[in-house]
Amino acid sequence: MADSIHSGSRLRLGVLASGGGTNLQAILDRIQDGFLDAEVGVVISNNSQAGALERARAREVPALHISSRQFPDSADLDAAMLRTLRGHGVGLVALAGYMKRLGPRVLGAYPDRILNIHPALLPAFGGQGMYGVRVHEAVVAAGVKLTGVTVHFVDEVYDHGPIIAQRGVPVEDEDTPESLFERVLKVEHSLYPEVLQGFAEGRVRVEGRKVYVQNP
Ligand code: GRF
Repeated sequence: MADSIHSGSRLRLGVLASGGGTNLQAILDRIQDGFLDAEVGVVISNNSQAGALERARAREVPALHISSRQFPDSADLDAAMLRTLRGHGVGLVALAGYMKRLGPRVLGAYPDRILNIHPALLPAFGGQGMYGVRVHEAVVAAGVKLTGVTVHFVDEVYDHGPIIAQRGVPVEDEDTPESLFERVLKVEHSLYPEVLQGFAEGRVRVEGRKVYVQNP
């Protein structure tokens, strides 16, 4: 149920992913090794070919393709997404490389319960069109010495919701966009499950745009 992020006693996640799904894999692995006290109730992708769907199925997690192909009307798509999340008892939604904007019904049903991970230190290097290797190209071109990972709440503006956690990654002189991509992705894989565990333990508090995460 959306009004409690825990279904029974465990945090129940809905993961939305459009691509390969290495962040989903990290979440599933940390659940399996006992670090993350949660379960993935459903994985949804707008891309029927997404590796994320295969990764979910390999762990017997329900994996669904829901897109504008089945629901050309955006209000119908929004309603279908919400029905699916609720139908799987999702209390917290984690976007992991999800390339579509969420509709107002899903956003409204999960206030402060939809997270995204971004491969840079927002508010720098974010916004529409800033995804994948493009982010790291911009970082290298700008000559900044520090980049990193941001986990933030999702609102109706791309990469804009309140920041929950960030972790820095130094940019070395010899870095290329590709080398940064790899290094930053590794940090994503550790930070996202850590943040989710913060939610599982009820250590996350939101006051307007300020988010406080207590140490474990
Ligand atoms: C990650 O870099 C994430 O930060 C961004 O999309 C990418 C998804 O990668 N939002 P993967 O599909 O989890 O491997």
